[in-house]
Amino acid sequence: MASSSSSDSSVSADVPAPYGSGPGQAAPASGPKPGKVRIHHLQQAKKDGTKFAMLTAYEQYTAEIFDAAGIEVLLVGDSASNNVFGNETSLPVTVDELLPLCRAVARSAKRALVVADLPFGSYEVSAEQAVSAGVRFLKEGLAHAVKIEGGAYYAPTVRAMVQAGIPVMAHIGFTPQSEHALGGYRVQGRGDDAQRLIDDAVALADAGAFCVLMEMVPADTAAAVDAAVSVPTVGIGAGKETTGQVLVWQDMAGLRGGRMAKFVKQYADLRSTLLDAATAYGDDVRSGQFPGPEHSF
Ligand code: KIV
Repeated sequence: MASSSSSDSSVSADVPAPYGSGPGQAAPASGPKPGKVRIHHLQQAKKDGTKFAMLTAYEQYTAEIFDAAGIEVLLVGDSASNNVFGNETSLPVTVDELLPLCRAVARSAKRALVVADLPFGSYEVSAEQAVSAGVRFLKEGLAHAVKIEGGAYYAPTVRAMVQAGIPVMAHIGFTPQSEHALGGYRVQGRGDDAQRLIDDAVALADAGAFCVLMEMVPADTAAAVDAAVSVPTVGIGAGKETTGQVLVWQDMAGLRGGRMAKFVKQYADLRSTLLDAATAYGDDVRSGQFPGPEHSF
């Protein structure tokens, strides 16, 4: 992502430190610049036509690693429900379960913008409920922003949250919390339905959402949505025209087994790596190879 230049007075307080200006800030050959990622950097990326990357994170080490890798946005997703807590869907996870995960990620990431999902049941009842949940994520979870699922209907909720000082990322298209209402994992915004997504995005951006995330949307629809709003967009299964891309980290790194969605690209095979490591450890313990003298006091 292109960081804002120091000549931009609107971002002067948060201009990323120049390369090599502090410990651990040696200039990378390429890739993201150091310095805290702020919402205005994502907005600048959209203006500049550059891209940013987002990954889910749910605990300390992955947050540290992804942050060090220069991932601009870490999402403490409600996908923790089915990637951490062992549920089948994202629906059962609660605010109280997500808050400690969010705190761990926010404490561990030095640079990334940390966004927390408001889980199912924590914002639908009223704007007041959404503001209360959002406040908890910023205050107790140390998140920098929150994400809510839903279309134009939630524009008043977003407005109330933004007025309360809670930055909101909107999530439209396929919204996993509505899996049962939507009849399963289905691409949204095909054909005539594209206009509905454009209207949703415009309403949510007008209400103050700083970014619109789209999930499982045809690439041409996502491009039309991106063109219709001035805020940055993020895609997951939404083609390449969005400002940013997001993946669930266990999918990206091959930790999760089973069938992968078409939009997932696996960059590692951590499941095999861990299986091999655990198998070797178990074998060593059973055969008396571990611990050796070098591991003993
Ligand atoms: O919770 C999550 O992981 C998400 C992504 C699918 C964007 O919302």
